[in-house]
Amino acid sequence: MSIPFITAEEAASYIKNGDNVGFSGFTASGTPKVVTVALAKRAKELHEKGEPFKINLFTGASTNDHVDGELARADAIGIRTPYQSHPDSRKLSNKGGMHYFDTHLSHVSQDLRYGFYGDIDVAVIEATEMSPSGEIILGAGLGMAPTLAQIAKKVIIEYSSYYHTSFRGFHDNYVPLDPPHRREIPIYKPSDRIGSTVLKIDPAKIIGVVPSNASESIKPFTAPDEISQRIGDNISHFLGEQLRTGKMPKEFLPIQSGVGNVANAVLYGLGENPEIPQFEMYTEVIQDAVMHLMEEGHCKFASTCALTFSDEAMLHFMDNIDFFRDKILMRPGEISNHPEVVRRLGLIAMNTALEADIYGNVNSTHVLGTKMMNGIGGSADFSRNAYLSIFSCPSIQKGGKISAIVPMVSHVDHSEHSVKVIATEQGVADLRGKDPIQRAECIIENCVHPMYKELMWDYLKLAQKGGGHLPHNLKAAFALHETFMETGDMSQTDFARYDA
Ligand code: COA
Repeated sequence: MSIPFITAEEAASYIKNGDNVGFSGFTASGTPKVVTVALAKRAKELHEKGEPFKINLFTGASTNDHVDGELARADAIGIRTPYQSHPDSRKLSNKGGMHYFDTHLSHVSQDLRYGFYGDIDVAVIEATEMSPSGEIILGAGLGMAPTLAQIAKKVIIEYSSYYHTSFRGFHDNYVPLDPPHRREIPIYKPSDRIGSTVLKIDPAKIIGVVPSNASESIKPFTAPDEISQRIGDNISHFLGEQLRTGKMPKEFLPIQSGVGNVANAVLYGLGENPEIPQFEMYTEVIQDAVMHLMEEGHCKFASTCALTFSDEAMLHFMDNIDFFRDKILMRPGEISNHPEVVRRLGLIAMNTALEADIYGNVNSTHVLGTKMMNGIGGSADFSRNAYLSIFSCPSIQKGGKISAIVPMVSHVDHSEHSVKVIATEQGVADLRGKDPIQRAECIIENCVHPMYKELMWDYLKLAQKGGGHLPHNLKAAFALHETFMETGDMSQTDFARYDA
């Protein structure tokens, strides 16, 4: 059976208003790049004629401008999950223009198989190699591709010729059985392969193949700023101390690291600390820093869901691909983030907070408790189950008008029960084995910016007047947020007015 080449416009015409559409990829990597642009154009044309057109968009994680950007600007998204970081998509969810629900990345594939959100009508999957029998080699990110290949009614392949070297051998395609038949995920070290290098898709389901030669369009990372560097140094020294004091096995443990510049800086910090031995990673994305750490011999292996390299770094990767062949394995998000494996391997999980409170609860998603930033991503898949769960952030934002450490977080993503360590550029608070008041003292002493220290002590004293195991003054708990909304500057908060 021959599978036809079709144009992006033809492919888009198979997607109907109200369809559930699933996309391969994780971050920009491995995400389709041309069908969605044609789809957004079609949505705009239909809207101009007064006809409704929106799809429900299911992805592995965030995407790229070709997916979230184009479709959000075309107002063509009905339901959206699980994670988005595009400014246009963020805007749309914050004005109620789409039904965005934020869920754990490791859950989405199984939730789709369980039928929680209905059938997947069409899947768009990026391939870098393909056989006539429907065997494909995926690109730089898997996301939900293996599950989509199984459950989608129809599949469109975006065939990318951008990659000038073969990605064959980097993927570990695997879909677990569903309850009540699920068995253990047989990964006992980050490099264990459990699935197949190729993804098999029933050729009868494939509508056609759309050629593409677009890159992932990921911008290079800026060099870590001073604050990120200090956070990175604080964490790497803390981990060195954990090794020295025997709180961590001397062989060290695999690292999971979140996204962004702070995450990159933390990894560079590990590379520069002579106390940290060669390490492995079991994580959902690897960024430019990991490639350099591998070349310098600091990182010996990485299990990931995607290679989220800047375009420049991707070219370097492809030019040196043989060096990386036995050092990287890409897995579906369901497996790269699987809580069972995270607990078994004993990960050091390092993720980023928007704000944390003095008792150790973390808000990673909602600015001032209401405006969605990106979503929880995989942070809770890892942090709830890790050997050691570290959250970091700069202690202040907006030139000091915002303190990232507050009396009570305005939204909770990671509770005090999962968060073991908080780090800012000021220092590190190790919360293990501490009661709430001891945790508050430790966080205020070590992590709060000097501009806000006195205010936080004032709050703790005020809260303790009411007693209790976890003292709060409910009228004053959001005083910093309220003051920010009234004056634009949290440091203007005065707790005296609550001390009646
Ligand atoms: N209140 C208000 N605004 C805040 C804030 C706070 N407490 N903390 C940060 N901000 C603002 C910053 O000022 C900045 O604004 P700008 O864009 O106008 O400059 C913006 O939020 C981003 O802050 P920044 O410190 O640059 O964040 P980041 O790029 O390091 O990302 C998260 C931080 C939390 C948004 C990001 O890590 C995330 O989405 N995490 C959740 C998912 C996750 O952890 N994924 C990885 C799991 S494996």
